[in-house]
Amino acid sequence: MINRSRLKKSMFFIFFCVSSLSTTVSAQEDIGSELPIDVRVLLIQEMIAILGSTQTITDAMVRGEDEVVAREAQQIHDSFILAQELTEEQQQALISTASDEFLRKDEALHKMSATLAEAARVGNKAEQREIFSQMLNACVACHTDHAAKRFPAFHQE
Ligand code: HEC
Repeated sequence: MINRSRLKKSMFFIFFCVSSLSTTVSAQEDIGSELPIDVRVLLIQEMIAILGSTQTITDAMVRGEDEVVAREAQQIHDSFILAQELTEEQQQALISTASDEFLRKDEALHKMSATLAEAARVGNKAEQREIFSQMLNACVACHTDHAAKRFPAFHQE
């Protein structure tokens, strides 16, 4: 026998899950277009540097060149936008414009790059592969959720 009140409760629960899911999906940020232009330029410079290092790391990993992986991963870590040439004013602009989620993702990437550099320094190739693939997922996740206009291809069906 189906208990009607339990059924009602579970219908409500499902409705609740679906509606909160759709809010998450529609809560996309396009941080680039919201930032002051000078801060945006620094963010883009950071991204271009990160892409360069990522490409070099791919090349070095397939050749087993740990020192190159370590150097480039360290470079990604050091290019962290919050840690470099920002004036106090620019830093404030970034922090007040960006969502906590964006800042959390940015920090996570930089932690991963430090872990990758360490794995490369000790010559742990299996760990390098694991962390590097997590880093690539992090690029895609952030571009999907926080750069909706720069990368519209993530939102096409
Ligand atoms: C914390 C979020 C975040 C992470 C993580 C992230 N990106 Fe980005 N990236 C952005 C945002 C935001 C933009 C768009 C900036 C804009 O619209 O001005 C961007 C833009 C770019 C661009 C385009 C730059 C241009 O020419 O305009 C490249 C290339 C890029 N990212 C590479 C990477 C790579 C490679 C990774 C991973 C190793 C990565 N990003 C990880 C946020 C992130």
